[in-house]
Amino acid sequence: MADVYNSIRKHHVLFKRYADELEEFKGDKRTLLKIYDVLNDFVDNVHSRIEDEILYPALIEASSGKEQIKKDIERLKSDHLVLSKLCSEILDKDLDINEIKSKLKAYDKILLEHSAIEEEIADSVISKSEKRFREAEDGFGNLDTYIREFGKDKYYAFFREE
Ligand SMILES: [Fe+2]
Ligand SMILES: [Fe+2]
Repeated sequence: MADVYNSIRKHHVLFKRYADELEEFKGDKRTLLKIYDVLNDFVDNVHSRIEDEILYPALIEASSGKEQIKKDIERLKSDHLVLSKLCSEILDKDLDINEIKSKLKAYDKILLEHSAIEEEIADSVISKSEKRFREAEDGFGNLDTYIREFGKDKYYAFFREE
């Protein structure tokens, strides 16, 4: 059984590490842009995709389509679009290193807050109906497929330090 939510939580820990490393970052602009280009690719093409297509539908199903959960999930889905656009805009603009840093700090803050809300909602649904959630999670997709499509080596490179 692929534990999607467990992987999602590991990704969230990774995002925190990025945020911590940005605080300490002393390198040049090119390096910083490259780091966040890679992160943005990961967030868009693996993390948020898995949430949109597996985690969120599984949470809705496990909560029997509860209106509040559906509303919360809609909000989280629109956050994904906002986060993606925000990061791309920071990377595309010709800003100086300090401007980039402060904008990326704001991006990290939103990403971490979003991740915390996700876990809060998921934990509350799972604590009430874990069996239904696990079944739904398995039914909506296979984590390995997403990792393969993104690129296995590229995916596991994120977790080399763990
Ligand atoms: Fe998310
Ligand atoms: Fe997330």
